[in-house]
Amino acid sequence: MKLLILSLCIIANLSNNGKASLESFMPTKDNMILADTTKGSDKSCSRPCKFNVKPRRCTYDFEISPSIEENGRPALTINNLTPGPAIQVCLHDIVIVKVKNKVPNQDVTLHWHGVEQKGTPYMDGVPMITQCPIVFGSTYEYAFIASSPGTFFYHTDSVSHQSDGVYGSLIVDQPQPLEPHASLYDYDRSEEHTLMVGAKFNELLTGHLEGVNQIRPDNLVVNGDEMDTKIFVMQGYGYRLRLINAIALECPLLINVERHPMTIIASDANPLQPVITDAVRLYPGERMDVVVRTDQQSGGYWVRVSGEGVCEGLSAHAMLLYSGFNYTTMLEQGPNPESETNYDTITDSQHLPSLREASPVPSVKSVYLSIDKNSPKFKDADIDFSYRSDAMSKKPFFPAVLSSVKSVVQINGKNFLYPDAPYLLKPRDVHPNIICNVGEENEQMEPQCLQVLKAQANEVIELVLGNEGFNTNDSYTFHMHGQKMQVIATWQNPKNVPVSKSEIYKLYSEDIVTRNERNPPLKDTFVVPNKGFTVVRYTPIYGGSWLLECRSCSTILPVAILINVPISIPKLVIDALPSCGNYRPADLLLN
Ligand SMILES: *[C@@H]1O[C@H](CO)[C@@H](O)[C@H](O)[C@H]1NC(C)=O
Ligand SMILES: *[C@@H]1O[C@H](CO)[C@@H](O)[C@H](O)[C@H]1NC(C)=O
Repeated sequence: MKLLILSLCIIANLSNNGKASLESFMPTKDNMILADTTKGSDKSCSRPCKFNVKPRRCTYDFEISPSIEENGRPALTINNLTPGPAIQVCLHDIVIVKVKNKVPNQDVTLHWHGVEQKGTPYMDGVPMITQCPIVFGSTYEYAFIASSPGTFFYHTDSVSHQSDGVYGSLIVDQPQPLEPHASLYDYDRSEEHTLMVGAKFNELLTGHLEGVNQIRPDNLVVNGDEMDTKIFVMQGYGYRLRLINAIALECPLLINVERHPMTIIASDANPLQPVITDAVRLYPGERMDVVVRTDQQSGGYWVRVSGEGVCEGLSAHAMLLYSGFNYTTMLEQGPNPESETNYDTITDSQHLPSLREASPVPSVKSVYLSIDKNSPKFKDADIDFSYRSDAMSKKPFFPAVLSSVKSVVQINGKNFLYPDAPYLLKPRDVHPNIICNVGEENEQMEPQCLQVLKAQANEVIELVLGNEGFNTNDSYTFHMHGQKMQVIATWQNPKNVPVSKSEIYKLYSEDIVTRNERNPPLKDTFVVPNKGFTVVRYTPIYGGSWLLECRSCSTILPVAILINVPISIPKLVIDALPSCGNYRPADLLLN
């Protein structure tokens, strides 16, 4: 009987689709708290990684649902947790995550940020590009091989879902002797020494983002806490810490540890030549691995995180605690704002040399991407929010009101349009009229199109991203799906005046701007400074439809291009994956 009532209730909610507000599904404070930190995390795969042992299958069940935190704040959670369960596996393990969407009226997908998805491009988690969105009540089973070691994380594709709490760490370990910088530290305990920074909002963003241009978080959190995260250490050792900026908005973070310089050893899961610094700057989606030596007087030290950009003025703290130290008083007194900002060096990672040399390339295909804020003439009906709504087949272009917005960030004068069929799986089902080739966007009259750069495997593509700055003073962070890119050059106009494409090419081709072709860092997340540019280069190896996106550029309209690298996906696989629109699995009515 109970089961039936529940089923009816779900059906009622479904038929009411579009009208019911998310809030009406929120559990009350009394019956839902975020407490059980072990729920849903499979500890069987968290282990020291050894040579010559079989990789494991590591299976996780994730249920994404609305919840209420202990302090009464609403959140979207995985298994009632935010951040979600930590995934820690060994190199070559198979990661299987069954994601169930229990968020009414919302589609979700999970993106594995930085994971190459070698041979599994349909596991990249971009709705209508690599898969059909997971509609309310249904499940998608992600499965991929942890093919590279390092610090990664996962998050929902939607900025609002991630901002409301759906993100977590993904650490891929390998046998210690394979770690290039193993000699620099004694302890690498990712389960205790990962600091993942998120932003918190007093209200849910989900369902409230449309038409909102500038969003500012209310505070920052480290592993979900403003001040309570503790890193326990012993005096006289080197500790590898993994830092993750898991914020979806344009919110760079400065991170430092009181009186403890850091040695940067990797960024975006790519080993770097070690650099010592007082503080690091982490852009949204970026990760850094640092070594901290506990060579200070035994005691407690604040780890300070302070926001820039839309997070300017916000801060969060964690504690680095030497064993035996009683931190009660430290916690009561709180951090001392004056002693904290007392550091000389702040280091960004995209200028740092990679540990490995790059092979020289014979020729490159250069593609210019002009990034700026524009004021396109929209009719309401032009605006596409389709990837956030369900029922793709019914409404390929879902209009939304865009009245309050005057300008929006664009690439080559266009906003990205999510297609009406999953591009990777069913390219022939995508309406040809909505596609425009990168560089030829002005042939398309609509303000949005599916911007595709057709790459050939093994050609060298060089993207020159120019943040020209005629209409904006903002810098923007981009994320490349699938493969990492070499960051060859980054430049910001010291005169602080806008730069045009021709000026950028002049500066770049005449070697006025320093280029690093010898050992450029390999990154999946990089910043394009305002009134400046960033040049990235890569050789596509893995077939797939890979987004190069700026999620933090705009919550209004997507800012991205799709880099398509030919691949033929077996029909068997395509048939096995859920199809769009009508996918309502049987288990919806049985749980
Ligand atoms: C830690 O310090 C507090 C305050 O000084 C004290 O009340 C508490 O008993 C101490 N705890 C331990 C374990 O010594
Ligand atoms: C950018 O900054 C300049 C000077 O600091 C200011 O005059 C201009 O209005 C700003 N532009 C925008 C779009 O905010």
